[in-house]
Amino acid sequence: MSSLLCWLKQPAFFISVSAVAFTALLSLSLSSLLSEDEAQATVSPEPPSPDPAPRPVAPAQSAPIPVGNTLGFAPIAGDPFAPWPEDGRETLLTFVQLSDTHVGRGKDHEAFASAIRVINRMDPQPTFVMITGDLTDSFTKAQIKLFKKLYNRIKATTYLVPGNHDVMFNTNASRISWWEREFPSFKTPYRVDVGPMALVGIDSQLWNARRKSRSADKIADQQWDEMERLVTAATDEGKRVFIFDHIPPMPTFYRQRIARSWKSDRMRDYLSLIKAQGVEADLSGHVHRDELYVEGKTLFLNAPPISEKYTRLASMRLFRVTPQGLTYRQIYLRRRGKHLSYQMDLHGVDEASYDRWVNGMDDASLAKVWQVRHAGERDVERWFPRIDKKRFRSYLLDPFDHQPQRGMNTRFSKLRLRRGSMASPE
Ligand SMILES: [Fe+2]
Ligand SMILES: [Fe+2]
Repeated sequence: MSSLLCWLKQPAFFISVSAVAFTALLSLSLSSLLSEDEAQATVSPEPPSPDPAPRPVAPAQSAPIPVGNTLGFAPIAGDPFAPWPEDGRETLLTFVQLSDTHVGRGKDHEAFASAIRVINRMDPQPTFVMITGDLTDSFTKAQIKLFKKLYNRIKATTYLVPGNHDVMFNTNASRISWWEREFPSFKTPYRVDVGPMALVGIDSQLWNARRKSRSADKIADQQWDEMERLVTAATDEGKRVFIFDHIPPMPTFYRQRIARSWKSDRMRDYLSLIKAQGVEADLSGHVHRDELYVEGKTLFLNAPPISEKYTRLASMRLFRVTPQGLTYRQIYLRRRGKHLSYQMDLHGVDEASYDRWVNGMDDASLAKVWQVRHAGERDVERWFPRIDKKRFRSYLLDPFDHQPQRGMNTRFSKLRLRRGSMASPE
């Protein structure tokens, strides 16, 4: 029994590893990412195609979702919208996180529209929806118009934060004004209280290492001060604080893309702040991958995209908030013959328990998580036998770039953000 529980628990944490291993394997495509992200070319979005037939919700007779595996991972063989497990916990509310809709890129708007149809059919409705940036592909007027047209269809209250494709990595005062003009309700930072939660939305691009424009320096400093104030006040009021951003506050999940992350001093200060204030979770997007990491007691939850850019399959996250913590379901909108969706129970997870699970994982569990982790990508199975298991495991434990790298990466190895217990794999 204990070994079963162990198996159920362990794979969850591989979800954070695969980012880096996959990086090595797909370095070519990632390097092409750089130029794509930089490009802010005008894209004429295609008009939304006629709504396809609504995706039927899986029948009620589907296999039940496994229960009892707190702090664990379980593939969903049945209905991903089935009631939450009877585990003695009260469901305080549910919410949906979408990320990286990239409206304007090819037919990504269709995936967004599909997600909206699914959300609008949920019963009960989620208390809110959060879209964590890269709302559009290049923030042209046409793309913004199309995004708003779709966004306005969402029945649940929906919150937004900007991504680098909306305000650019090297954002400036003009881009910030543009954002605030188009989405005045989401001038960052903002705080919204929902039940026991305080949601704090920020613009991570203001603190991006690639931001050179001095015109946004003051805005960036103001956002920092205001965010600190909002987080501290919410904590003092006994709220459970959830910070939503676009680029995760990590040196990198893709080792070669470190220059795209936050400025190192901001990242360090942010980690100090969230630890001191007991922030429950940082929820982000941007890397178009499925990531999980735990620092202290704070969860770093990085959601895969709606956009099918970089070969991902569109998916969304449905969260359940209980008095004790979180569970989420990663729900793929198109399964392509596979059951890709899974449930992740994060009740009681902290850094120590997370490390224990990762270190206790065997190769069979690793393979399982690898497959699920990369479910949205092509040719997943054939890569696993070729990966370096030791390195893969170490990535799970330490996304803080435990390996000295050339160029920008080496700067972060000096920040002492790494776990002291992590041995360099090579
Ligand atoms: Fe994106
Ligand atoms: Fe992004």
